[in-house]
Amino acid sequence: MKKQIALLPGDGIGQEVMQSATEVLNAIAVEFDHEFEFDTYDIGGAAIETQETPLPDKTIEGCKRSDAILLGAVGGPKWENLPSHLRPEKGLLGIRKALGLFANLRPVKGFSQLLHASPLKEEVINGSDLLIVRELTGGLYFGEPSEIREDGQSVVDTLAYKREEIERIVDQAFQSARLRRKHLTSIDKANVLASSKLWREVVEEKRREYPDVAVEHLLVDAAAMKLITNPGQFDVMVTENMFGDILSDEASVLTGSLGMLPSASLRADGMGLYEPVHGSAPDIAGKGVANPLAMILSTALMLRHSFQLEEEANAVEEAVQELLRSGYHTADLNVKEGEQVGTNVMTRLVVEG
Ligand code: NAI
Ligand code: MG
Repeated sequence: MKKQIALLPGDGIGQEVMQSATEVLNAIAVEFDHEFEFDTYDIGGAAIETQETPLPDKTIEGCKRSDAILLGAVGGPKWENLPSHLRPEKGLLGIRKALGLFANLRPVKGFSQLLHASPLKEEVINGSDLLIVRELTGGLYFGEPSEIREDGQSVVDTLAYKREEIERIVDQAFQSARLRRKHLTSIDKANVLASSKLWREVVEEKRREYPDVAVEHLLVDAAAMKLITNPGQFDVMVTENMFGDILSDEASVLTGSLGMLPSASLRADGMGLYEPVHGSAPDIAGKGVANPLAMILSTALMLRHSFQLEEEANAVEEAVQELLRSGYHTADLNVKEGEQVGTNVMTRLVVEG
């Protein structure tokens, strides 16, 4: 199989973990006889430096021509004081929007080898295996108006959804639930927000099309509490953009580190952008200690969701399991036994595994 992959390394450790991703994909190409071609484009701070915009047209065009996209991370202290339309994070929101990648899938699995790495009790996280399906191109992060008014004396943000935007993300979540344990938790704030009332209505309508999937509604504040007191009760969680953003960072506590969490952002036709959940980690950038596993596990999601290469995706995920079982870990994981290694060695262990 021949595939064209756009690489957007971005800033900070984004550059370092992208290197890991291509090494792993090159190994998969050799082992399974595929051809992966990479084209690298600027995004975020890296693009601001060279082209004075966080999202150059060339990057959007390159992504549109490719079969899938890998993204590292964007942002850093250097660009923090720029006006908001020029900040690196605009590049990230912009590429998701430009390509219509409305469904963000964030699988969260408590690796049995990392139970000690989490501050939560072992018996709480043991066996947790959930998928957060976050709406990615609407809701509070995109609603208009969003502005400061009256010389800073008042502000407004808008949580807006069209019925069809809710329908397509809810469909995606039901389909994901069907492939898993067939349990869907829809998360909203229907006791307060009008947007949540429509959200709930759509879920109730859609469940008739998926009678094999059990459905539950949960308010977002209660969901935040249950996610770390009884994560084992969740299979698939579907929710609005900002709620999903917050809940998925919270869920990273189950895995012991942000450095373990991959994500897929998909369109209905299978086009996808794959990236770690973490940011550019300026505190450790350039030191060679970043955990590359979130990025590497993101490539596994790409192989599975965009290319339907299930066996290859499993090979990557099993190699990660295997090295964790052998006790290898990066500094972000609070593991006492075994050997602590840097980004390069961790990557080599996946490639060899
Ligand atoms: P962050 O995720 O970059 O880092 C949070 C903490 O986790 C830091 O202590 C960092 O060292 C650690 N960490 C994160 N990923 C790691 C990895 N792979 N290996 C080892 N340790 C890791 O979030 P933070 O510090 O809030 O933001 C830093 C910059 O990244 C900001 O400019 C922010 O806007 C941006 N950001 C970008 C995102 C993206 O590109 N998707 C997502 C979140 C933040
Ligand atoms: Mg976030």
